[in-house]
Amino acid sequence: MPDFPTVEPSSYSAILRRSFRKTFPPAVRGEGVYLWDARDKRYLDFSGSAAVNFIGHGMVEIATAMAVQAKQLEFVHSSQFTTPVAEEYAAELLDFAGKNFAGGYVYFTCGGSESVETALKLARQYQVEVGQSRRHQVISRGQSYHGSTLGALSVSRNKRRREIYLPMVREFAHVAFPYCYRCAFDCTDGCRNCGQKYAAELQKAIEAAEGEVAAFIVEPVSGATLGAALPPPGYLQSVAEICRRHDVLLIADEVMTGMGRTGRNFAVEHWDAAPDILVAAKGLSSGYAPLGAILVSKRVADAIADGSGAFLHGFTYNSHPISLAAGRAVLRFLQDRMLVQAADSERPDSTAGMLRQALEGLREANAVGDVRGIGLLWGVEFVADKTAKRPFAPELNFAGRVAQAAVNRGLLVYPMQGCVDGVSGDHVLIAPPAVITGEQIDWAVKQLRESIEEAIP
Ligand SMILES: Cc1ncc(COP(=O)(O)O)c(C=O)c1O
Repeated sequence: MPDFPTVEPSSYSAILRRSFRKTFPPAVRGEGVYLWDARDKRYLDFSGSAAVNFIGHGMVEIATAMAVQAKQLEFVHSSQFTTPVAEEYAAELLDFAGKNFAGGYVYFTCGGSESVETALKLARQYQVEVGQSRRHQVISRGQSYHGSTLGALSVSRNKRRREIYLPMVREFAHVAFPYCYRCAFDCTDGCRNCGQKYAAELQKAIEAAEGEVAAFIVEPVSGATLGAALPPPGYLQSVAEICRRHDVLLIADEVMTGMGRTGRNFAVEHWDAAPDILVAAKGLSSGYAPLGAILVSKRVADAIADGSGAFLHGFTYNSHPISLAAGRAVLRFLQDRMLVQAADSERPDSTAGMLRQALEGLREANAVGDVRGIGLLWGVEFVADKTAKRPFAPELNFAGRVAQAAVNRGLLVYPMQGCVDGVSGDHVLIAPPAVITGEQIDWAVKQLRESIEEAIP
């Protein structure tokens, strides 16, 4: 195998990389839950490459579907043509999403941020079409992340990712977010009764905006920013009900939670919340091609169809045939292999049930404050003092230290900082491909435990 150069902090690379202070090994191969670098070092992808890969790496069925499509038709512009792959795949996705999107529509993009932008603009246009042209604000939650483009950043609340761009983004209201380990209401019952209180915050924010709110955007299960924090009972249902009552569209951002990762086709199904718009990416193509989508309820799209007749939005690479061939093959693959069932942590004998049990064992470990999550999406939060839940000093970059110690052992996890207040608080996100085995889970959790021990100062 050729030896590609590792990008060291001190070396030049023509890539404008994410960090000039980090070493990047060149990845050359993937198979199942494993990735290999050019030196043939093997890594177990315990975070699914940022909660992207759900079906495993190197699945030949997907590569074949993409090659067949590429040979037949690589691209047409969506202002001139539709394609068979787009039509078939959109119908299959609506089926996958269930009755809430029956008769609805799909809009394909190249990723999560583009899809969030699309959802925000669609919500605005919907309101204009139904005669509510004052409605333009989009309320979001604290400690949320919806993407890196300026529109998506404006509704995100990940402090580090938006801070320097603040003068460039439009600010709307944001509301409290359920974070049961550090509940804003100081409850003592694991947030069993906090759902209504958090939802009431949304009601207040909508009323305070005096008829200007177009939509509310929410990650049903928090993604990277809070590390798989779950909504308390009744929260999402109440939020959906408040939105309906106030003619505010509900946008579910399922970029991380979608396509089976939580053990349901989409996470909203756990809580019976029916969004008007659902955003998907990451697991949609499992990383085999850049792909995102929004699913739109019939009511919302029909307002445009029966009104002005045109959605005033578009990207050149909407509905790219090769990406769609990848996405369609991924959907078939995960259905054929019953991977959504494998990701159901409520079944003790499932892959996710085994993961849950193994991660729960970390609660006893030094520096582990909380283990939370669902399906194949988990967060492990670290604290310097378990009783007081005191976080580590941010300068220590404890999550980064854990992740680096894990990399040295051949294990990939997703480190994040800021869960407590945007700056302090450390956690890692765990989101393995659904093809991981019990043996691989046990090995990975053992490595993670040792990495945590090693990172403790
Ligand atoms: C919940 C959520 N929404 C949106 C995005 C943005 O997606 P992308 O990075 O594909 O643009 C992300 C990315 O991590 C995400 O987790």
